[in-house]
Amino acid sequence: MTLTQGPDIGLAPTGIDPYLFRGLLQRVAVAVAVVTTPSGPDLPSAGFTATSFTSVSVRPQLVSFCVDTCSASWPAVQCASYVAIHLLRAGQAQIARTFAAQGTDPLADTSTWLPGVYRLPILRDVLATLVCEVAARNPVGDHAVVLARPVFGRHEDGDPLLYHMGRYQRLAIGGE
Ligand SMILES: Cc1cc2nc3c(=O)[nH]c(=O)nc-3n(C[C@H](O)[C@H](O)[C@H](O)COP(=O)(O)O)c2cc1C
Repeated sequence: MTLTQGPDIGLAPTGIDPYLFRGLLQRVAVAVAVVTTPSGPDLPSAGFTATSFTSVSVRPQLVSFCVDTCSASWPAVQCASYVAIHLLRAGQAQIARTFAAQGTDPLADTSTWLPGVYRLPILRDVLATLVCEVAARNPVGDHAVVLARPVFGRHEDGDPLLYHMGRYQRLAIGGE
């Protein structure tokens, strides 16, 4: 199958070359979020860096993020009735790295967060925080798409931390 008449740009009916797929996705500039889950009787709080956060619907209000069902965070997300989604500020790449690291507890440093509503860890000094009720968890491939309804939110002024071409970046202001 060809996408256009002319040079073959690599569209295949059942997927594209994995390096091409990765290269395409790297070109999407995205905000960096950290998702945290509540502490419960059987599971401690968890948290992970996510660039899959996006808005889904205005009426009703719904947002989504995706979580790898093989990740250490998945059991906590699977059980959670509420999650907190934090948008990081430009300059907070170290927080993103901490919450993306494997085999460590990103919440071990208790000076970086406060215990919040629904036993959720709320990160300090971030650009925005959205506490959401989990509305649905839909397994799709190796991830689950989590749909969530905002119940509390706050935001500050400032620039977001972005991820683009495999690197943490900041907005270059000016131009269209
Ligand atoms: C920039 C960036 C974005 C990420 N976005 C997601 C995401 O949207 N969903 C997800 O499940 N994991 C995402 N990850 C991976 C997790 O943050 C984390 O690295 C992973 O869950 C750690 O693996 P473990 O939970 O198996 O220890 C991302 C990692 C990075 C560095």
